[in-house]
Amino acid sequence: MINALPKAELHLHIEGTLEPELMFELAARNNIELPHSSVEEVRQAYEFSDLQSFLDIYYAGAGVLQTSQDFYDLTWAYLLRCQRDNVVHTEIFFDPQTHTDRGISFEAVITGIHSALRDGEQKLGITSEIILCFLRHLSAEAAMDTLELSRPWHQWIIGVGLDSSEMGHPPEKFKAVFDKAREHGLKTVAHAGEEAPADYIWGAINSLGAERIDHGVRCEEDSHLVGYLVENQIPLTVCPLSNEKLKVVKRLEDHNLKSMLNKGLLVTVNSDDPAYFGGYVNDNYRAIKAALSLTDDDIYQLVKNSFHASFITDELRAGYL
Ligand code: ADE
Ligand code: ZN
Repeated sequence: MINALPKAELHLHIEGTLEPELMFELAARNNIELPHSSVEEVRQAYEFSDLQSFLDIYYAGAGVLQTSQDFYDLTWAYLLRCQRDNVVHTEIFFDPQTHTDRGISFEAVITGIHSALRDGEQKLGITSEIILCFLRHLSAEAAMDTLELSRPWHQWIIGVGLDSSEMGHPPEKFKAVFDKAREHGLKTVAHAGEEAPADYIWGAINSLGAERIDHGVRCEEDSHLVGYLVENQIPLTVCPLSNEKLKVVKRLEDHNLKSMLNKGLLVTVNSDDPAYFGGYVNDNYRAIKAALSLTDDDIYQLVKNSFHASFITDELRAGYL
């Protein structure tokens, strides 16, 4: 049933789709030495204690991505997975600073991703959007410079987001760059309430004007916030397997997705960094359905929410609902 339902994915870091097999292929292509000797060894290293322990490995892995072709291959491999999972629309994040800080041009990154997405629409019928994420562990000035750098490609970018180490890097730090992005006509989303408390979700809404909250699972700690999110139908892009692997929840059975759904929150299911967390979007649906005994109606609601929460046109949305 899950497989058969056309769905949208709204929380997916393209760098987080780098499977170890492609990592080795790109390392060989680009003459890069990896710290692991086999695909199995890489997978064994994917044991995380929290968000930061994951990010350290994830940023290191991205080092094999050098050319526009590498970004094309990465994105194309993800689109083939979308086809298998019946993802008909995807809104992907990319982290330009992870690459420009290594001397890779913004142009190489965006043209590779964009070309693959264009082919995905033409050959696979999968529609897509690109969201540029700022790394919140870096400075607000660096984010502003990145926004400036991205200007020649704004016709390919629908919005900006905020990711990386959450604790100690509250949304307020990035108010000016989000204001500027909105002036440029970009939409705004932000990771908030993954590891940090509900205050960060308020900050994402009030300081950054976030139209969607990525994760947001800690919203239930503030009943006033839950009321606000329900009333304004602000979507939460939840990633169950990510939350389990990064120890946001102890066990998937403890996840609050069902509770959030029951409160009328606009919850969606997504894969975040599927190559690192052991599952693409359908794996996330299946795992959370089993862990929380979700009904078929719950699954329909989650799938419908994925289109409601997406940035597709009303005309396209009507075709999916
Ligand atoms: N970058 C990639 N995945 C992330 C996550 N789950 N939280 C914050 N930053 C990320
Ligand atoms: Zn994320």
